[in-house]
This record gives sequence, structure tokens and C-alpha cells, in this order.
Amino acid sequence: MKKKITVIEGDGIGPEVTKQSIHILNAIAKFYKHEFEYTYCLMGAVAIDKTGDPLPNETIESCLESDAILFGAIGHPKYDNDPNAKVRPEQGLLKLRKSLQLYANIRPVTTYSSLHHLSPLKTKNIKDVDFVIYRELTGGIYFGKKELSEDGTQALDECTYTVEEIERISHLAFQAAQQRKKHLTLVDKANVLETSRLWRKVVQAMCAQYPDVTVDYLFVDNAAMQIIVNPKQFDVILTENMFGDIISDEASVISGSLGLLPSASIGKGAALFEPIHGSYPQAAGKDIANPMGSILSAAMLLDHLKMKDEAALVRQAVEWTLSNGFVTKDIDNVNFYFTSTLGELICDYISGNVPGAGKKENIELRKSTII
Ligand code: IPM
Ligand code: MG
Repeated sequence: MKKKITVIEGDGIGPEVTKQSIHILNAIAKFYKHEFEYTYCLMGAVAIDKTGDPLPNETIESCLESDAILFGAIGHPKYDNDPNAKVRPEQGLLKLRKSLQLYANIRPVTTYSSLHHLSPLKTKNIKDVDFVIYRELTGGIYFGKKELSEDGTQALDECTYTVEEIERISHLAFQAAQQRKKHLTLVDKANVLETSRLWRKVVQAMCAQYPDVTVDYLFVDNAAMQIIVNPKQFDVILTENMFGDIISDEASVISGSLGLLPSASIGKGAALFEPIHGSYPQAAGKDIANPMGSILSAAMLLDHLKMKDEAALVRQAVEWTLSNGFVTKDIDNVNFYFTSTLGELICDYISGNVPGAGKKENIELRKSTII
């Protein structure tokens, strides 16, 4: 199959983790005889530096013409620490989500037995945790009216949702639950917010269309606690934009590292795939960032292109790597491997060249000596 992929490396560690995913997609293309055509585009701080615009029009145009988009990370401290900045890197990502109508952000949370010890949570609580967060991505407080009074003493962020916005993502979440353990949890704040009461009403009304799915409702403050004390209870979590942003970072501690979690943002047209981590500027250019979140996002991209076997092979390679102790510094601060080494190992695995005992020595040589 021939597919067009727009690649947006973005800021910080974005370029180096995305580079590994591209190597892996190339290894997949070679092994399965596909052809991936990449167009590199700008977004974020790097786009502001080069063009003054966090999301140049060419980037939107390329995305609209692509089968899928692979994105790295966004953000730079020089904007984070300047609340008066007129233009911010994140505006690029938000505008892209809106322009492409990427209304559903899908964030799976899985655990790897070799990494259980890394989680601050007890192994018995996180063993076999497997849930997925469906986060609404183009509405709510992120996209409501924003105002700052002239004297700068009052600010406003409005939160709005329409029935249609709630229904379209809820259908996806219900359908996902049908394919999984048939359990959906709506996370809201219906005891306080009008928008949350609308979410509940809409989801309650939809239950009849999905009689095989059990639906639970949790207030977000309670959900934040339940994710830590009993994450096994969840199958599909459905929630609005802001709550989804917060609980998905929280849920990443279950896996052991934020660097491991992938995501897919889907909507009406092309879909975008990105690790959930940020641009981690302190690590940029050091070859120490964890590429797994990006590589697993590439696996979600392959799934989206209906390349199921290909996606499964990438996941298998990632599992093999992690369970053999080939991990980055965020996971093992002493015995760690470089970002690029992990990429090479996964490519070797995909090409059928699984590094065996004979090659172990070579791999050891590629181990970091920075302690
Ligand atoms: C995410 C990020 C973004 C968000 C930022 C970078 C705008 O935190 O994708 O979770 O808040 O949606
Ligand atoms: Mg976030």
C-alpha cells in the first residue's frame, strides 16, 4: 500500500523521538512492501522562530492531503515562563486539532510487567491494568471565549458543549467499549457544571443504543482518586477536553513513565498520532528521551491505516525491548540505552534480525556510559 504521511517533529525532544518512529515505519514498509511518502512540516516554537506563525498554512494543507500525521511534541520554556507572550507554540496544536476536526483523542493506558516496579503504585494494583481514555478534543474550555479585562484584573475562559459534540465522541467510546470489556465510565463534574449535566443527559440517552455496554458515572475528583487506588476497574473512560488532559497525565504513572504512552486524535479526515508527553526541553538533543510513546503512536497510525499485522509487530518489538531491559534513562537511571539505540533494536526486531546472544555484546557497546 502507498500512503502519504505528514511528519511534524515539533519542539524539544519531538524531532529525536519522531526520527526513531520514521526508521521503524521504514522497516515496516520494507518488510511488508508498503510505500510511505513523508512530508515534513513545521508547527510549534520552531515554526514561530522560522515563520512567526505556530501553524503555517502549508502545514494544514499538507495534513489535509495526508492519510495520517505523525507528530512529536510542542512547547518551549521561553513561552511557558512568559504569560504576556502574544503567540504561543501550543496555539499551533490547538488550531490544527480544530482545523482538522480531530474531535476524539484516544489514550490507551497499559502496563508492562517488566516495568511494574517503576510505578509509584503497588504492583498488585496495576497488574493487568488496561483501559483507554476517550478525551473530547475540539470543544470545552480550551476553545471557549477568552478575555482579559482592559485593566488586567479579570480573566475569562468559557466552557461550552453542544449535544452534537458530545454525541460524536460518545459513539466512538461506546463502540470501543463494545470491542473491549463493555464497560464505559463517563467522567464529569455534573454536581457543579451545567456542561457536565448535558454530557450525562446525552450519554444516558445513548445507553439504549448500546444495551451490551454497562455505563458508570464518576465525578472527576473521585475519578482522579480511583485511577490511583483501583485502576483495574476501568475499561473505557469518556470525558471532556480539560478533564481528559489532566487524568491522562495522571494515568501515565500507572505505566511507569509518561514517555511510554501513545495517543491518536481522530475526526472527520486525516488522523494525528502523537506521544502524550511534552517537549521535555531539558533532554533535547541528548539522545536520552524515551522514544516508545512515539513508536507506539506510530503503531496506532498503522492500525488506523488498517495495517493490523504491522501494528502488532511494532508493539511486539516494543515489548521485547522493554522486557529485555533495553530502556531509556527515564526508566533506568543507571543502565540505560540511547534513544537511537532503542530505535535500531526495534528496527532489527522488525526486520527479523532479533538481536540474539551473539549480538548482545554489540548492544552492550551501544549502552550509555553517562551515569
Ligand atoms: C496534550 C497537551 C496539550 C493539551 C497542550 C500541549 C496544549 O497537554 O496533548 O495533552 O493540553 O491538550
Ligand atoms: Mg496534556
